[in-house]
Amino acid sequence: MDGNAVSGRTRVCGVIGDPVEHTVSPAMHNAAFAALGIDYIYLPFRVRKEHLGRAMDGVRGLNIRGMNVTIPHKIEVMAFLDEIEPLARRIGAVNAITNDDGFLTGSNTDAGGFIQALLEHGAKPAGRKAVVLGAGGASRAISFALAEKGARLVILNRHPERARDLARQISDLSPGIEAGGLSEEDLSAAMRDAEILVNTTSAGMTPEASLTPVPVGLLRPGLTVFDIVYNPAETRLLREARAAGAAVIGGVDMLAWQGALAFEKWTGRKAPVGLMKQAAMRALGHEN
Ligand code: ATR
Repeated sequence: MDGNAVSGRTRVCGVIGDPVEHTVSPAMHNAAFAALGIDYIYLPFRVRKEHLGRAMDGVRGLNIRGMNVTIPHKIEVMAFLDEIEPLARRIGAVNAITNDDGFLTGSNTDAGGFIQALLEHGAKPAGRKAVVLGAGGASRAISFALAEKGARLVILNRHPERARDLARQISDLSPGIEAGGLSEEDLSAAMRDAEILVNTTSAGMTPEASLTPVPVGLLRPGLTVFDIVYNPAETRLLREARAAGAAVIGGVDMLAWQGALAFEKWTGRKAPVGLMKQAAMRALGHEN
């Protein structure tokens, strides 16, 4: 919203992280508040690790309506909340907090945002074979979400033991989760009948934009390729997937959807997700 329009009734939301300078969440949320004409503002807060508890007291004390949580606080923040939604608890990470009169509820809208972006592109995960590359924090949220939605999962990671670890932790949600490495052999075996491929690794992210985690020969029509990297907007993986006739989804879609789901919790209004995506693209310096 326009800062000049802040009033005595303005509700405050924001994001905590460290660093927080490069976040595009203020651009997305303030554009959405303005478009809906609602009296909210969204601000960045740099919060150091040792001040996290005090920051949560501040959210209560100042009656801040909602907070996104980013690196490095997504795990530690859970200790300071009153309730954590079941999926967020299973994932072990919270990226959005809603404050109802001092009662703080933690959610994981990264997981839901990923699923929404998939559904928006017509790729229903239920019963589909999905290959997830990477076994870090982002993969954790996405792998849990896919398993919960009934996808048949294969998790592949440069260090295969991390993939096996993650697969074990999810095994009760979906039977027969497979795990492996990123060798061409493991990749081609996993990709043979895959319908969804998700890259959660930083291979292909600026400044390593010349990299791709998947040999081009494994990309084909019938596959939906989702790269959660949003810098660059079109990674080498997505460019090669598109050229090979696959359907492609970029990281800004997940970014916009995770924001949209938090926005809906805080405002009770349907989020203008297309506009939030455009605002994120602009803030990232990408052409629309
Ligand atoms: P995030 O929260 O983005 O998932 P993370 O938890 O640090 O970040 O995880 C990074 C992921 O990217 C890991 O799966 C990592 O693989 P390892 O566990 O083997 O380290 C993966 N990754 C990072 N750089 C990579 C590269 N150049 N090639 C392949 N995988 C890479």
